[in-house]
Amino acid sequence: MTYVVTDACIRCKYMDCVEVCPVDCFYEGENMLMIHPDECIDCGVCEPECPAEAIKPDIAGDMESWVELNRVYAQKWPNITRKKPAPADADEWKGKPNKYPEHFSEKPGAK
Ligand code: SF4
Ligand code: F3S
Repeated sequence: MTYVVTDACIRCKYMDCVEVCPVDCFYEGENMLMIHPDECIDCGVCEPECPAEAIKPDIAGDMESWVELNRVYAQKWPNITRKKPAPADADEWKGKPNKYPEHFSEKPGAK
């Protein structure tokens, strides 16, 4: 089992999650984070910390594609362990459905 970051993170990227992860398994893209499924220890601590409710356990249902996406990009993007400022327009994107098709960026987060 693992927890995964899902659609709701895109363009919100609040990063409260990275501060609480005991094994530092978050990875940063340009406009969202991913969890490395093989590093996550399923503690569940990050789930309630996300203001966008973007973090889900893989047993939540229909999570297979998100687990795969988290696995792929966690291996491409840099590790992130400290919270940075969220995007200025993060609140405007909070709660918007289906952001992945139009707004997901494959680019890594800025160092
Ligand atoms: Fe880290 Fe625990 Fe969240 Fe997994 S469930 S990403 S180990 S805080
Ligand atoms: Fe994304 Fe929520 Fe973390 S919006 S960056 S999963 S706190």
